[in-house]
Amino acid sequence: MLMNKSLKIATLAAVVGSALGFSSLVSAATEIKAAFNQSDKHPQYQALQEFGQKLSQETDGRYKLTIYPNELLGDQRAALELVQNGAIQMAVVANPLVENYDKTFRMIGMPYVYSGPSHQEKVFTSGVLDDLFASTQRFGFEVLTAYTAGARSMYTKGAPTETIADMKGKKIRVMQSDTMIKMLSCMGGTGVPMSQGEVYTAVQQGVLDGAENNEITYADLKQYEVAPYFTATRHLMVPDLVVISSYFINSMPKEDQATLRRLAKESTPNEFKLWNAQIEQAKALASSKGATFTEVDITPFQQSCQQLQSDLAETAAQKTLLEKIAALQ
Ligand code: GCU
Repeated sequence: MLMNKSLKIATLAAVVGSALGFSSLVSAATEIKAAFNQSDKHPQYQALQEFGQKLSQETDGRYKLTIYPNELLGDQRAALELVQNGAIQMAVVANPLVENYDKTFRMIGMPYVYSGPSHQEKVFTSGVLDDLFASTQRFGFEVLTAYTAGARSMYTKGAPTETIADMKGKKIRVMQSDTMIKMLSCMGGTGVPMSQGEVYTAVQQGVLDGAENNEITYADLKQYEVAPYFTATRHLMVPDLVVISSYFINSMPKEDQATLRRLAKESTPNEFKLWNAQIEQAKALASSKGATFTEVDITPFQQSCQQLQSDLAETAAQKTLLEKIAALQ
């Protein structure tokens, strides 16, 4: 009885909706829930949103992307688990989270592995990562594409970290991965792994001396309020990965799968553009709130990470990938 009633209401809504030209509002579009750990002003949010609009257009409204920003669906580790078990469909997660499943991924997030944004864009869009990205299906998710998260630098309270000597004894928050902890040790400090959402309070309470991230996240999350000395060490260009639940994508018609995969790949150059356009704005905002940006000689920082780079390339697959990345420079 109840069932009949709701069916009738749905049918009525569909009839009224299409009469008013709102057919996509009432037709049963499949919702794709995407977890995102930063704000809706972030370039990756905007790139994903455009991807969602195109997906909806090109599939005649069969899919509707809803992005949940600001860790609303949990931090990146939790979000990746939700994707794996099919509770949500998509997420943007930093490379180290996926590296915890397959160590080959650490090659694309090592210190100083890219010479700059255009090298990184070539690596992300040239197809050299296609096989690696498809291979994570065995863990229950697929990497659709990589987004840039710019270059990461150190920021601290008290004073800038202009030299390796300044790093000594500093407790710096890093992402949850062994590579990041090792990198901090090579630089003379101590890497403290934790999720992004906890950083502000940890610095404020003195658990940390600082953190390391890109200018956009630094400004977006107001971390300049607790760690105003941003030193341009540019030691990492860690990709962010757009992941989708295998369970979900495999349940889509083949043609829609292909459309979704293609549009996700095509969103990467757009994301690079959006990213590059926001850097100066982020720096200006942070400066206006009291942050100091210091340029430094990065050579000693690069040298401190050189041994780590070769130590991390252990397997044949890792070495081959590293060669392919270097060849695109
Ligand atoms: C960057 C990156 C995020 C990541 C964050 C972090 O902002 O874009 O994916 O979560 O750094 O340091 O945790």
